Amino acid sequence: ARGLRVALLGCGVVGTEVARMILEQGTDLAARVGAPLELAGIAVRDASRPRDSAIPSGLLTEDAESLVDGADIVIEVMGGIEPARGLLLRAIEGGAAVVTANKALLAADGPTLYKAADSAGVDIYYEAAVAGAIPIVRPVRESLAGDHVRRVLGIVNGTTNYVLDQMATSGLDLDQAVKQAQELGYAEADPTADVEGYDAAAKAAILASLAFHTRVSADDVAREGITGVTSDDVAWAARTGHAVKLLAIAEQTGEGVSVRVHPALVPLEHPLAGVKGAFNAIFVEADAAGPLMFYGQGAGGRPTASAVLGDVVSAARHRVLGGKGPQESIYAARPLLPADAA
Ligand code: HSE
Repeated sequence: ARGLRVALLGCGVVGTEVARMILEQGTDLAARVGAPLELAGIAVRDASRPRDSAIPSGLLTEDAESLVDGADIVIEVMGGIEPARGLLLRAIEGGAAVVTANKALLAADGPTLYKAADSAGVDIYYEAAVAGAIPIVRPVRESLAGDHVRRVLGIVNGTTNYVLDQMATSGLDLDQAVKQAQELGYAEADPTADVEGYDAAAKAAILASLAFHTRVSADDVAREGITGVTSDDVAWAARTGHAVKLLAIAEQTGEGVSVRVHPALVPLEHPLAGVKGAFNAIFVEADAAGPLMFYGQGAGGRPTASAVLGDVVSAARHRVLGGKGPQESIYAARPLLPADAA
């Protein structure tokens, strides 16, 4: 079979690992897909910047649009709203399948991308947008598509979980712990998105949209971050048998859908209290399935790249064998409870 042209947009913590995996695991990936994956190029803002030695400088380009044109699969790990949205729409309109890790974009304007992908008849995959390596988008989008999800409850931001953990165990203050999370590659480019709960709110919006087959955007999520949590709070919680966790909660009740992110006291005997460091965990409660729990590394280059590559393999298989991934099921608008009612 002919090779599939893969365009990579972004070469940060995640992009570097995605490129490394495509380049190093070429033979395995070709066998799984049924055709070779050819990394056609990597679009970056500044091609002259020093990079990881795994990145061949000849692949770097500052011309993302030309790279997108003619690609079979476009992987977007650059983050932010623009130029990511424009480039993904261009890719979709050009007939490429897209794989994105961009939770901010999906939570702000996912339906525009889903509709464009449906009209063009191409795949859009975004497993890496929620909770890094943990398979959670596919289970909610596909495995539970015949069930009735009641509640999604989880720790979906590794940075804040790491920070709260460090405050509890090493006595670090918030700023020191955030700095460590940045050094470990967990934090967003602007860690405000982590500590203020914006990142968790974006993920909660994506999960709620999928779980409840409706549209929830990041602005609909009631949000409180961890900047008001002090070392004293964490120590007091520990003395009373609790861990402080930033929880994302999405519920469907008789009145409507409620989605919120806030610090919560979790009893130490609850499994969520044992989620340490940059690990994430998500509980899903569905009528027929009952409770489900998903656990794993929610941040970091390699874990997130694993989820990206899984999506790339799915999209590539469809290119080779035919078929198409799931369409977005935003059919029923459900009443969204106002944020202050949560
Ligand atoms: N900054 C995010 C986190 C990365 O800490 O969880 C994964 O989205």
